[in-house]
Amino acid sequence: MNTCILGIESSCDDTAAAIIKDGRLLSNITHVQVDHSKYGGVVPESASRQHDRNIVPVVDEAIQQAGISKSDISAVAFTRGPGLIGSLLVGVGFAKAFALALGIPIIEVNHLQAHILAHFIEEPHPGFPFLCLTVSGGHTQLVRVDSHLDMTVLGQTLDDAAGEAYDKTGKMLGLPYPAGPEIDRLAKEGNPESFHFPEPRIKGLDFSFSGLKTAVLYFLNDRTAENPDFIKTNLADLCASIQQRINTILIAKLRRAVRETGISEVALAGGVSANSGLRAIAQHYAEKDGWQLHIPHPPYTTDNAAMIAITGYYKFLAGKFADQNITPLARYPI
Ligand code: KG4
Ligand code: ZN
Repeated sequence: MNTCILGIESSCDDTAAAIIKDGRLLSNITHVQVDHSKYGGVVPESASRQHDRNIVPVVDEAIQQAGISKSDISAVAFTRGPGLIGSLLVGVGFAKAFALALGIPIIEVNHLQAHILAHFIEEPHPGFPFLCLTVSGGHTQLVRVDSHLDMTVLGQTLDDAAGEAYDKTGKMLGLPYPAGPEIDRLAKEGNPESFHFPEPRIKGLDFSFSGLKTAVLYFLNDRTAENPDFIKTNLADLCASIQQRINTILIAKLRRAVRETGISEVALAGGVSANSGLRAIAQHYAEKDGWQLHIPHPPYTTDNAAMIAITGYYKFLAGKFADQNITPLARYPI
């Protein structure tokens, strides 16, 4: 019998649905909520309302594009958390009602585990055990992955996430939200050695980005007091220097994790792994230190439902189903 999983993602500002049949992706639909950029960040109430409007058409499109009918679906996998509670409620409520109506099971998915399992949407898959650096707008973690469903967090951020570091420093430069992709684009024209921002000294495999944020703020305040056009005339160099510092903080810990665990199968995951500078520096160390490096294609790095469906598929095979009385979790550690 075929195993056909409908995956639903609604943890932040993207409404997404995907179909995976026997581990193969048949459709992957994402409705991106664009209007948050004018407010400089995601407005939770607006995000929930848009999920509420979009969830039915997005799921319909995923089913149609997959060329299946509702009766072919074996189970519904959905993001339980972490995320914005109002946004999660829409996906969780929809998944439960949809599954109840069809008489099929539901599977709850941890969004952070799903970012890691995005590596199993396409071949080649990483071999176990592997280390995964998950870098997104809300999370920064180093995870040891022993099997699809057995993961241990080795280190994480003590304050801001790497994506937040991009978005908040980008906001100081006057860039629209989310600033990460904009910084990436502008950094290509700039010199990363132009400005030097400090590297924090954090023990073990944990990360910190709040010091960098404050350093950039004070630096920009000082320079713009002398020259009001400072940001405008140095924008590319500022982006390149900030990007380089965020990425060197991340890579230093990743290299340390490889040394400490002896695992050289290495993966990047999450929205920030779309960053071309991070990809290049990871590639550099992969060659230098002999890592087998895995980076998903950009559509599978940012939030998507294919990663929820593939996680649902492995949980389905392991018989890990949820009860109808399940509720979302705004905080949900791996
Ligand atoms: O994984 P994701 O889509 O959502 C969360 O779960 O948070 O990650 C979104 C984050 C945002 O902070 C965004 O600025 C960042 O990923 N991002 C990037 C790039 N593309 C997305 N940061 C740096 N360079 C990029 N190319
Ligand atoms: Zn995410």
